[in-house]
Amino acid sequence: MTRPRVHVSGKIPVVVTEALERDFELVPGPGGADGILSLITTQVDADYLDGAGPQLAIVANYGVGLDNVDLDAARTRDVRVANTPDVLTKATAELTIAVTLSLIRRVAEGDRLLRSQKTWSFSLDFMLGEGLQDRTFTIVGPGRIGRETARLAEAFGARPVFAGRDDDLHALLADADVVSLHCPLTPETHHLIDTAALAAMRPSAVIVNTARGAIVDETALVDALVSGGIAGAALDVFEHEPRVSEELLRLENVVLTPHIGSGTRRTREAMGLLAVAALRDVLLHDRRPANAVV
Ligand code: DGY
Repeated sequence: MTRPRVHVSGKIPVVVTEALERDFELVPGPGGADGILSLITTQVDADYLDGAGPQLAIVANYGVGLDNVDLDAARTRDVRVANTPDVLTKATAELTIAVTLSLIRRVAEGDRLLRSQKTWSFSLDFMLGEGLQDRTFTIVGPGRIGRETARLAEAFGARPVFAGRDDDLHALLADADVVSLHCPLTPETHHLIDTAALAAMRPSAVIVNTARGAIVDETALVDALVSGGIAGAALDVFEHEPRVSEELLRLENVVLTPHIGSGTRRTREAMGLLAVAALRDVLLHDRRPANAVV
């Protein structure tokens, strides 16, 4: 019996390849594939789907974010789309707290100072930071990752506040000490954090983005950081990823990580196996995967 053909758009963990090989024929390009396992760096748009061909039945995206997939184009071509929610919630929330603490307790900055071999010595007012205790930690996008981040922030003594779609974002930003972004990137959230939103924040507040870079207008962010409009930023994602702006690289009040929110071995494997399960559902059992979005 011929096995369904699956194309994988990038490098994946060995256990995920092995799981795919048990049921599918892996093909080197999208053309002629019945299913595609797409990495979030692959733009799955109308052209890509057409290039794959009319037999394509499912795109399983290796991530929870779906901004790289044109969902309408998939819908009109009768192609199912699935993502990988839940299994990365804890890892992403954990990384959010890690970069937040690194920023406000100046961990990365202290590391850079020591590596620069400048002289330093302990003193009571040296490199003081801020803790999370009693700080207002505002979650923009109260989905799974946002709520888990709030839970962790609360364990550090912070007061979580949720900013959902129907809330007055600027009013909530004005009261925040930490603003943490957890909404998906959509046309509505593109540049949600713009000059006006940054101006609404306190000069002592910081912004944390482990969601998608383009939710923040990066030029406006740099201006706010340079002018003292806000105190700092912790960024795991960038507007023009993988490029990181020169200005951000030069700033001390910024912590930068290379899109590693879900980056633990266990999480990445679980994400891959969830995507494989979706491919199996559609291509072997002709049923809708639990994690289908289209
Ligand atoms: C996602 O899942 O969307 C992350 O950005 C990568 O794991």
